[in-house]
Amino acid sequence: MLHGRRILLVIAGGIAAYKSLELIRRLREHGAVVRCVMTAAAQRFITPLAAQTLSGERVYSDLFSLTDESEMGHLRLSQEADLIVIAPATADLIAKLAVGLADDLASTVLIASDKPILLAPAMNTRMWINPATQANVARLEKRGVKRVGPEAGALAEAETGIGRMAEPNAIADAVEAIFVAQATLRGRKALVTSGPTEEAIDPVRYIANRSSGKQGHAIAAALARLGADTVLVAGPTREADPPGVRVVHVRSAREMLAACEAQLPVDVAVCAAAVADWRVDAAPQKLKKTDALPVLKLVENPDVLATLAQAGNRRPRLVVGFAAETENLVAAARAKRAKKGCDWILANDVSTASGVFGGDVNEIHLIDERRTESWGRLSKRDVGDRLAARIGQFFERKAAE
Ligand code: CTP
Repeated sequence: MLHGRRILLVIAGGIAAYKSLELIRRLREHGAVVRCVMTAAAQRFITPLAAQTLSGERVYSDLFSLTDESEMGHLRLSQEADLIVIAPATADLIAKLAVGLADDLASTVLIASDKPILLAPAMNTRMWINPATQANVARLEKRGVKRVGPEAGALAEAETGIGRMAEPNAIADAVEAIFVAQATLRGRKALVTSGPTEEAIDPVRYIANRSSGKQGHAIAAALARLGADTVLVAGPTREADPPGVRVVHVRSAREMLAACEAQLPVDVAVCAAAVADWRVDAAPQKLKKTDALPVLKLVENPDVLATLAQAGNRRPRLVVGFAAETENLVAAARAKRAKKGCDWILANDVSTASGVFGGDVNEIHLIDERRTESWGRLSKRDVGDRLAARIGQFFERKAAE
């Protein structure tokens, strides 16, 4: 349910920190990737080694560590998270967050972040009901910070009262509720093409291209995270099937088209595959070496994007294509958008120097009928998230019309 979601768990210093270890397990069981930041006080209660072993990720604690700051600065820690969970959230860390103090890694990550935050407070009853704590929590909630707990029950110091940290299951449910509320594509069906196609020369040889499938797979994963019922039609790639996505594996352009048409109707189609423009008029038997060199006769392949964009009453409501160009990027992409009949085209430079083909980053210009929007250099995962969010907004706007 939390497939591929990246959660930054900030563990502050309280006895409830032992329950955070269980929380790490719960979140990972639901498919989340959990990275932990621990305060100095937290390390008096549980060890970084325990959090590291359970999360399978390095644990961060030192703002001034040269290695931590150069390998993974406080800005990146928050940038690479979809949600920050503070559990336990102590009176001290809540106060720091409320006034904006930044004197250790945990508080600096929090103030440097624009990501949603979930608090799981844990403290003694008197600390919780203290007007200072209550005012700080109210101030944070007004800013949109979410909270789960605290609960009433037995506290650590042989007392009972309100202040117990919510149980790990309840925190995991609250995490999920935050993502469900963001699922702007729930009830929508999405179709994505990805990867290269292989076109047979004879039964053992083929022509292909260097597409890795990374971008298309990242888009499918991002659409699924926003709740879309997502089908990925993938050519041969080394990419793993994205979690929460139904994957149809194909080889040739014609198989890709047939697999896509079989999925219609869909609300949105994103064609990110590098479909071979031509196939070979393939030999039924393996070509033999003879005196004459073989001549390959190329035949034009169907255009998956153009077929979907011009599918009449079966046309998806929103059709998005890519324009892989090596020169005159935006102008060529704009012309390609008109030629194919799609709604949006994402232009990217695929020249060797750009490192886009096969690499982990992409530089996108989104072109619609009126405007060009430049996204700068982003990871392919971030491009997926940004596109999925834009598609979510598109349907929200249509629903409001
Ligand atoms: N596309 C497709 N089927 C094809 C060729 C391309 O679905 N047979 C889609 C791609 O998935 C992409 C868009 O069309 O979304 C543009 O692909 P691109 O390779 O940039 O353009 P081409 O149509 O191949 O045109 P050209 O090679 O002339 O640039």
